[in-house]
This record gives sequence, structure tokens and C-alpha cells, in this order.
Amino acid sequence: MDSYTLLYGVIGDPVRHSKSPIMLNEAFRVTRINGAYAAFHVVPGSLEQAIAGVRGLGFRGLNVTIPHKIEVMRYLDEVSEGARAAGAVNTIVNDNGRLIGYNTDGIGYVRSLKEEVEPELAGKTIVVLGAGGAARGILWALAQENPARILVANRTEAKAAELAASFPPELRISAASWSSLRDVCSSADVVVNTTSVGMFPNVDETPIDPEWLKPGSVASDLIYNPLKTAFLQEAEKRGCRIHGGLGMFIYQGAYAFEYWTGQAAPVDEMREAVLESLG
Ligand code: ATR
Repeated sequence: MDSYTLLYGVIGDPVRHSKSPIMLNEAFRVTRINGAYAAFHVVPGSLEQAIAGVRGLGFRGLNVTIPHKIEVMRYLDEVSEGARAAGAVNTIVNDNGRLIGYNTDGIGYVRSLKEEVEPELAGKTIVVLGAGGAARGILWALAQENPARILVANRTEAKAAELAASFPPELRISAASWSSLRDVCSSADVVVNTTSVGMFPNVDETPIDPEWLKPGSVASDLIYNPLKTAFLQEAEKRGCRIHGGLGMFIYQGAYAFEYWTGQAAPVDEMREAVLESLG
């Protein structure tokens, strides 16, 4: 660090558990970029001041995490189409004083899915389990890959219908009933769990009966604690290709790095740094 160091960080509440500083500082180190990234505990009442601080101090970029991803949009100069569709901003670029909000979670998820298990999503049938914020965050990015269709199913079915209807029809996102999931999953190419089912400490639970999955299809889970959920373990036993949630975290950070620096992110080293810190 010296007097030319560009500043970056993540704001959240809580934020001390965040692996983003370890991951992004490793990316700066590997690429020899003179940047530094820290975590800032910002409570909801201080969000406006925090963003004013970004402007005043000339931070080059910021990540935004829970609970600020929605609220922060009102303090920005511009919000990208993807972030508007996701209804949330997780990355801010300070472009010569103009603060532009992006969402790299959804596109990070899709890049991870494509690089790690399934390079071709065009023409595929994708089933999304769950209709909360995490589902909304990935739907727009999945639809950009031109799949044949995306079906959203949720335990509380009205929420799936409402979420699907909030996207334009040309994105081919529709709702499926929770009770039809046996049939729906048996003909799906990719089934993604965005619910909290299977998350630590309830590690034995699965959102659906894994027997419903088609062997050879992709089972994907946004959860990364544990790294391999019961859903993925059972899916693997059935001959599915599996994809865990850590990739989404790595690649959302990779996109943020690329938006800030204009350089390709050192994804392998970033992943190594995170895995090492997880122990
Ligand atoms: P997030 O922002 O992480 O998506 P959320 O908005 O609280 O969190 O959504 C949690 C999702 O997990 C919802 O889709 C929820 O279904 P409901 O809308 O029916 O509550 C889903 N979920 C949580 N527990 C579940 C369970 N035991 N079985 C099925 N779905 C569950």
C-alpha cells in the first residue's frame, strides 16, 4: 500500500464472517494491482453516510451485502439492467464520481455453472426450486442463456406465480406447482435449489426427493455451507452432475474484480484462498 493504492471494500451487517477481503486481496496480489479491500460494518441507519463516504474518499469500488442490497439502489447514480431485474445491487463501480450499481450474483452463478458443469444452457429445461430473493437473483441471468424454458416452483405456490409473472414473457420463465415437481424434475436438464433447505445446521434435509432427478442431469445448489449438501450427495449417487454454491461466491467476486479493474480475474487463486480460509 502506498499513496496511490485504490480502495475497495464490502459493507454489510453482519460482515465479519465475509470471505470477500481474503478473496479480493488475493486477486490484487496475484495481478499486481495496487488495491486494498476491507470489510466495513455498516448498520442500516448509516447506509446513506457510508455511500457518501465512498464518494468523498473516492473509493474505486464496493461490494454490498445483507441487509443493504435493495436499499442501496436509491443512493446510486445508475443501476444496470441485470441489477434492476434481480431487484438488488451487490457491486458498485465508482466511475469518476458516478456510482453505478450492478448485480454480479446471478451472472456469477451462471458463469460458475457453465465453467464447472454445463457449458451449454441454450435449449435446456431449467427448474428453480424456491421463490425468494436468491431465486430472483439468478432468474434473469439464467434467462440470458436462452434456455428452452425456466420453471419456478415454491412450497408457497403463489410466490412462484408472482415471481414468474414479474419477468417479461419472452424470457420464458413460468411457475410450476410444488406438487408437480416429481414429473417436472424427471424431464429437467438442470434443477437448482435456491431454498434454505439443507443449509447448516439442518444438513440432512433435501428440498425434493432426489429420486426424481434424471441421471445425467445437473443438480445445483446455491448453499455453500455445507460445500456439498445432502441434495447434491444424493443427486451424485443417482448419476447426476453436481454443482455447489461456492462457485457462485467466487464468480460474483470475479465479476466485481473485472468491472473494477478491466482485467481478467485470477479465479483459481481466488478459489484457493477462500477454500484455505474455510479450513
Ligand atoms: P432467500 O432470499 O435466501 O431466497 P427467502 O426469501 O427467505 O430467502 O426464501 C427462502 C426460500 O426457501 C423460499 O422459497 C421458501 O419457501 P416459502 O416461500 O414457501 O417459505 C423456501 N423454503 C424454506 N424452507 C423450506 C422448506 N422446508 N421446504 C420448502 N421450501 C422452503
